[in-house]
Amino acid sequence: MSPVSRPAFAGNRVVRHTGSRYPILQSPMSWIARAPLVSAVSAAGAMGVLETSSGFPVVAEEYAAIRAATDQPFAINIAIKFIKDRPEVERAVLDWALDGRVGFVTTSAGDPRRHVQRIKDAGVIVYHQVATLEGALKAQDAGVDGLVVEGGESGGVRGADAVHSFALLQAVRERVDLPIVAAGGIVDGRGMAAAFALGAEGVAMGTRFVCSAESPVHVNYKQGIVDAGASGSLTVPMGGRAIIRVLRNDLSEGIASGRVEPLHPQSSIDNLYVGGDLGKAMGSAGESAGLIHAILPAAQIVEDTVAGFWREIERLSGLLHGQTQSDRTLGDRAAAG
Ligand SMILES: Cc1cc2nc3c(=O)[nH]c(=O)nc-3n(C[C@H](O)[C@H](O)[C@H](O)COP(=O)(O)O)c2cc1C
Repeated sequence: MSPVSRPAFAGNRVVRHTGSRYPILQSPMSWIARAPLVSAVSAAGAMGVLETSSGFPVVAEEYAAIRAATDQPFAINIAIKFIKDRPEVERAVLDWALDGRVGFVTTSAGDPRRHVQRIKDAGVIVYHQVATLEGALKAQDAGVDGLVVEGGESGGVRGADAVHSFALLQAVRERVDLPIVAAGGIVDGRGMAAAFALGAEGVAMGTRFVCSAESPVHVNYKQGIVDAGASGSLTVPMGGRAIIRVLRNDLSEGIASGRVEPLHPQSSIDNLYVGGDLGKAMGSAGESAGLIHAILPAAQIVEDTVAGFWREIERLSGLLHGQTQSDRTLGDRAAAG
């Protein structure tokens, strides 16, 4: 696609807030969203997001490694629930994150009112991750600068009554004027264009980046995502009202049906992320796994997504001129798969 038909995202509020070239974020993921992945995503013009759930000194070391690898902007995620019961850790994470380290923070898993004023007082932009309309309205009232809206098809931990992105994005757009970053089910430019049509101004991808060359997880996990079909994920209980979306296999089907006891989350890291044994751990993955056909470098994922986005916009704008709606990108996807 020529540069003329691939404009910059000049008027895009997400790009204005993140300072990155493209309104594309890599989702925060414990253990995974560390230096190799975050720096590759940011160097490619998207927004890498460093997780802080792993605590110190890991996070500080990863931060230094990202800074050494790229001068492009990246973000820090604060998972509120995971630190709120440990006041010293909470203080340390906040003090550290807001000490001029980044200009953009995402918060997730908890009530944004807990930190939003402190973050804004530090001159840092904050987007809060929500999975419901009610959560979006509360975050707006709390004064956040934007939202990451996570649909029920997303990989990772969900609420039991999660609404999927198609309806959720529209419901939030109807009531909220903040910039929205859509998360869940997006792996490429077609998904990005669809999210924009539903009201988003940016996208976040988790499963797609788990399955990137720079992701630190064992290659068997990445291959499990590549091998997953369209129905290759399911949700299993985690206790309480939480569920987690994972790759479908005998183990996860057993847990989903109640025949097998749920596993401790740490088993994913030991047995799967490091050990590569898909049969001994639950690998988080979204419905998006069924759209991923290869392990790719993060830079290629970013570039393909941007090129595909503008191709979709061009294709849809052709409808204005009576052009056929046939999908010229199908051949590309088949070739990739
Ligand atoms: C392997 C994996 C681990 C995740 N871990 C976290 C996490 O630690 N904290 C969090 O807020 N979200 C976590 N998520 C959810 C992502 O931040 C994101 O919302 C989700 O991946 C988006 O859906 P997608 O996977 O279809 O792109 C995780 C997702 C995956 C796939």
